[in-house]
Amino acid sequence: MAGVDSATRAATPSLPWKTKLLVTGLTIAIDCSRRSNGTVNRRLFNFVDAKAPPSTKPINGVTSSDITVDPSRNLWFRLYTITRLSAASSAADDGDAKLPVIVFFHGGGFAFFSADTKPFDDFCRRLASELQAIVISVNYRLAPEHRFPSQFDDAFDTLKFLDVNDGVHLPQYADLSRCFVAGDSAGGNIAHHVTLRASTNHPEFKKLKICGLIAVQPFFGGEERTESELRLTNVPSVNVERTDWMWRAFLPEGSDRNHEAANIFSGRDVSGVEKYPATMVFVGGFDPLQDWQKRFYEWVNKAGKEAYLVEYPHAIHGFYVFPELPESSLLITEMRGFIQKHS
Ligand SMILES: *[C@@H]1O[C@H](CO)[C@@H](O)[C@H](O)[C@H]1NC(C)=O
Repeated sequence: MAGVDSATRAATPSLPWKTKLLVTGLTIAIDCSRRSNGTVNRRLFNFVDAKAPPSTKPINGVTSSDITVDPSRNLWFRLYTITRLSAASSAADDGDAKLPVIVFFHGGGFAFFSADTKPFDDFCRRLASELQAIVISVNYRLAPEHRFPSQFDDAFDTLKFLDVNDGVHLPQYADLSRCFVAGDSAGGNIAHHVTLRASTNHPEFKKLKICGLIAVQPFFGGEERTESELRLTNVPSVNVERTDWMWRAFLPEGSDRNHEAANIFSGRDVSGVEKYPATMVFVGGFDPLQDWQKRFYEWVNKAGKEAYLVEYPHAIHGFYVFPELPESSLLITEMRGFIQKHS
């Protein structure tokens, strides 16, 4: 894919001032809310984490509603439904078009944000509208109040809920046999783990079939420091100090970053997992986590699975929630091609 010549590589990304301001604001909010003793000042963070309500009134042809999976742990998802099929898809399918389902896990280092966080709400609506898909954005529990494996359990239980209820909460034209699991950052890590769990231990899904995994800048790590982690110390969004904090908040107390949830490469690969689906990995040239993400792509590829690496040399970690960045639209175009190919 797009190769980056180190001679042409700038030291810092050039971003529109509005994007820079937003990224800086969010980063400061996270830094001020995460305490050195490993807890999160939720009151402070919620103050800056703007939430969006669901909307029964279509916005860009998409309505949304919140559906409870398990009230005892506040597990729910936001469902995005298309009200107006695009001319292309309705003509092609003669009126009874069935739409693929994207199950999405938001990022935030396992510890921040939620399915109703405004930038994620906007992003999921955009996915539904531009990909002509049903989108399910899962509100999993957060660390450190809930550590590993709570997030993976919530993710898996949501898939099970969708399968057991046979799409009863979904519009009739949702096609659970064309399901794509997607996530960004920590959500990309969750997407991998839940896909692995669904492909390994629980082949008994009746209806739900995972046709692809879309990992957008997935959050993986380990004790090792990679070249990109050491080099990109002064870029917007993430750095080693922040990601180390996130791992400490998420992983079981006493474990290091070589824990299997972070360093998946230390364990068995997916070559023996027959059902592990085609995988697409997105990487940004200004993301300190990119070496781990490329390793993920290679790890899937070497295991004999269909894998794609898409690299945006100028992209920072989290670029996709900023529609003003050109890579944000390129990402959606790539996702569309991947979903069409694997439907
Ligand atoms: C962490 O620090 C906060 C604020 O100083 C305090 O309220 C909280 O009890 C501390 N938690 C732990 C587990 O030490």
